[in-house]
Amino acid sequence: MKKVFIKTHGCQMNEYDSAKMLDLLRSEEDYELAESEQQADLLILNTCSIREKAQEKVFHQIGRWKKIKDSNPDLKIAIGGCVASQEGEKIIKRAPSVDIVFGPQTLHKLPDLIKNNEIDDRSQIDISFPKIEKFDHIPTPDYGEPSSFVSVMEGCNKYCSFCVVPHTRGHEVSRNFDDILNEVSALADNGTREIHLLGQNVNNFKGLQNGDKSSLAKLIVEVAKIANIERIRFTTSHPHEFKDDLVEVYGSVPELVSHVHLPVQSGSDRILKLMRRRYTVEKYLDLINRIKSARPDMSFSSDFIVGFPDESEEDFQATMDIVNEVGFDESYSFIYSPRPNTPAAEMPDCVPLEEKKLRLDILQNRLNQLSYGYSRKMVGSTQNCLITARSKKDPGEFQARTINDRVVNFRPKKHKIGDFINLKILDAYTNSLRGEVKDLS
Ligand code: SAH
Ligand code: F3S
Repeated sequence: MKKVFIKTHGCQMNEYDSAKMLDLLRSEEDYELAESEQQADLLILNTCSIREKAQEKVFHQIGRWKKIKDSNPDLKIAIGGCVASQEGEKIIKRAPSVDIVFGPQTLHKLPDLIKNNEIDDRSQIDISFPKIEKFDHIPTPDYGEPSSFVSVMEGCNKYCSFCVVPHTRGHEVSRNFDDILNEVSALADNGTREIHLLGQNVNNFKGLQNGDKSSLAKLIVEVAKIANIERIRFTTSHPHEFKDDLVEVYGSVPELVSHVHLPVQSGSDRILKLMRRRYTVEKYLDLINRIKSARPDMSFSSDFIVGFPDESEEDFQATMDIVNEVGFDESYSFIYSPRPNTPAAEMPDCVPLEEKKLRLDILQNRLNQLSYGYSRKMVGSTQNCLITARSKKDPGEFQARTINDRVVNFRPKKHKIGDFINLKILDAYTNSLRGEVKDLS
């Protein structure tokens, strides 16, 4: 049996794609997972190009792998994901040790690309966008983690002015409704209790159901009916497409968790317009309030970009204002990074990097303070949690996840991974909570 080692950069979508690459190589090519890079016959890097730094990491990694290849010339190196899609054959020009380059939409062609490369050792490149074809080639899962990702749509048509995703992942295409339900059922039969529906613009899911366009809300209703599925999450939502029926399911589907990631990016209408986000602060806040009316205990996390071209002190202050008004939980924030072929990269920008770093610091301090505040408030409460893994530091302990996706470490009694459990929260730390078993539920 040959061995493959996969390293994944970037988002949950990439994590999902990497898992699918492994499924494919296992079922079609008799590969098994290598425990280390040194043991592998094939090294795959699934790359991210959302920010410049992420992209730089790729060539550093290839450099490290080249050293392994120097002492094992039969080793193959394959580069997939968004940098592969963006750079294509330039990767092989810059790093000739790379054998295969494939994009997010052509990962199902990996077995063929490997075979072709083995014939005459010539490099193989396929970064096309053959619609949703890849899902027709990916085997139905025969295993299930307690919490599993399921991709429901691919790509994005929004073309926010700063974002490379529409260029690297292509236009939006939704998977067929019933295919998704079949995948969820297969996962549920294999022990999955929580389903995390994925898409770059997940709330614009329009998969066909009996020939008609469906919606994310309809999908959630049907996923909730599948036996053993007790929690549903979805990411990432665009505020513009968060339609009324999706707000309504918060009132009618208890399996849908009381937590949603809703990237706002900026609190300034001027910047939102330059970003081409298609909503104003007022509209965003109205959406938050409508979701809260359907589900009063909702919590929200978000993404922020600081230092967008020509962001003024006033614009930045408006971002701090919306942070304080919504009281976001567990958010992500980044300094704007110019990306190839995006309109924002051409916009004049007079804000010095030092100022941008200072703003990021101020924002992150406030976001961390808010997030830690939520954690502290949970101390003393009882939380329904899903046991997802053994603790990394202490194998005698387990990790469980709360509804707002915090990790709780605790000492189990008669529990196993995949059980739901009520945990009393004893203490809160920066990145996790400590809990104790409340009862044997
Ligand atoms: N579909 C999601 C975003 C996916 S990208 C949405 O609608 O918001 C994940 C996050 O990366 C974005 O929310 C944004 O905050 C950040 N990001 C994207 N492009 C960026 C860039 N050029 N510079 C800095 N951060 C960026
Ligand atoms: Fe990117 Fe905007 Fe789509 S942030 S992924 S272009 S919604």
